[in-house]
Amino acid sequence: MAKALQRLFFALWPENPVRDQLIVTVQQLQKHVAARWIDPENFHITLAFLGDVATGRLPDLNQAAEAVSSVCLELSLDRIEHWRKAQVICLTPSANSPVLAQLAADLTNQLRLNGFALETRPFRAHLTLARKATDPRMAFCLEQPIRWTSSAFVLVASSPISQYTILQSWPLREPVRQC
Ligand code: 2AM
Repeated sequence: MAKALQRLFFALWPENPVRDQLIVTVQQLQKHVAARWIDPENFHITLAFLGDVATGRLPDLNQAAEAVSSVCLELSLDRIEHWRKAQVICLTPSANSPVLAQLAADLTNQLRLNGFALETRPFRAHLTLARKATDPRMAFCLEQPIRWTSSAFVLVASSPISQYTILQSWPLREPVRQC
């Protein structure tokens, strides 16, 4: 029987070459810090977290996602941060990406217009690398930033054991090049 509720979120999902770079970075960190490291198959940047959603509302989610019009993203992830309260180690862009912030804001607005209640916390672009991390030394810039070009965003279902399944993908537009 199909599940009546699914725990869902929208995210950017890395292609394999980006994931491979992330794995190398994490392998370096793992030598120095004890934490519960995220399975690389699950690496992502959350755009909007929905929580439990009735499966009957998937068409509303599709409508919201279809209404988003954003160009492809070129991110430079270059900072390792330790978030003390959440006890996570994450990778962030030290330079704010206005395109990413706009994509997250547009998606959030469209979801609200379609009747979804979302958290009001401001969007902070990050990729969680590890949880249950208590070492505050994890705050520095990478010598080699991780460049991530993203041409789509995805809807993901999360199981109780944090296994993620991509349900659907929406393309981002190619930017119009000036001649
Ligand atoms: P995090 O990586 O910073 O923990 C799936 O749970 C994704 O949604 C995670 O990347 C998580 O972010 C994000 N998320 C945002 N708000 C959440 C919440 N209230 N509960 C669980 N996950 C949340």
